[in-house]
Amino acid sequence: MSFPKQRLRRLRQNENIRRLVRETHLSVDDLIMPLFVRPGKGIKQPIPSMPGNYQMSVDILTEEVKELEAIGIPGIILFGIPEVKDELGSDAYSDAGIIQKAITAIKKEARDILVLTDVCMCEYTSHGHCGFLKADEHTGHFEIDNDKTLELLAKEAVSHANAGADIIAPSDMMDGRIGTIREALDREGFRQIPIMAYSAKYASGFYGPFREAAESTPEMGDRSSYQMDSHNAVEALREVSLDIEEGADIVMVKPALAYLDIIRNLKENFNYPIAAYNVSGEFSIVKAAAEKGWIDEKRVALEILTAIKRAGADIILTYWAKDAARWLKE
Ligand code: PBG
Repeated sequence: MSFPKQRLRRLRQNENIRRLVRETHLSVDDLIMPLFVRPGKGIKQPIPSMPGNYQMSVDILTEEVKELEAIGIPGIILFGIPEVKDELGSDAYSDAGIIQKAITAIKKEARDILVLTDVCMCEYTSHGHCGFLKADEHTGHFEIDNDKTLELLAKEAVSHANAGADIIAPSDMMDGRIGTIREALDREGFRQIPIMAYSAKYASGFYGPFREAAESTPEMGDRSSYQMDSHNAVEALREVSLDIEEGADIVMVKPALAYLDIIRNLKENFNYPIAAYNVSGEFSIVKAAAEKGWIDEKRVALEILTAIKRAGADIILTYWAKDAARWLKE
């Protein structure tokens, strides 16, 4: 008997053998494309920090969504830049709000593609925080009023559902939001609309480019009093347990790449579908290095998306959704 008896390279000899023993399969079925919508007409404004992504007016957005539907992308998630921002984030739950208008237009032209909406206040508030800000009566310091925010979020979710949203995705990280939103949706007759909860959403530097794209950088302070601390893993299990108890149908980890351990933890501890958000910063660092000729964008992007899937994600929200759909066909 010659040495070694086991030769793992036997199963790596050619592409067909590799195909047979491949453990993870990335597919267009897994992908959701985030899109940014703003008021106006004929607008397709490049987002400098996220090459290939645009703030689009509703007409241009609708064309884009038709294209995504045609190439087989199962869903999009919408982010809105409203005409006006105010302290109460009123555009978020206005029937004439930017997201509500976008959904109405999309549903006329592209019936089947799922329209997910991000339910949060940060894109709509003048101060850029994800909730209602009030001054503490004793110290005068501004604080997020958790329970007042819940009311606004419930209104926002119902308003999105009224406009025709297919899945509601709360991303604010207030305590009790999933239960409050589930109750409000049920009360208004939207029992069948699933909730995809941004459950383990970390306070992260990787959201930098998105905040430029959505014009939602907080005016003062940061989000660390509501988003999770990046040092914590066990706490993610608590967040997810609560969201499931409160009625979440799909739970999310965000960001994805620096949190693959969290995705795996959830996979091993819960039997619910897991989504992962491959966020703006994870996308932009690859774009920037590729522009310099330092790495191969397609190869690295597919490797990243495969890693997120391998870690245990069933669904990936990614700015590469459209490109990946094409690459996977090649
Ligand atoms: C909040 C929200 C954010 C992202 C998605 N939803 C930003 C934040 O929490 O600051 C970030 C997505 C990305 O970076 O790609 N509404």
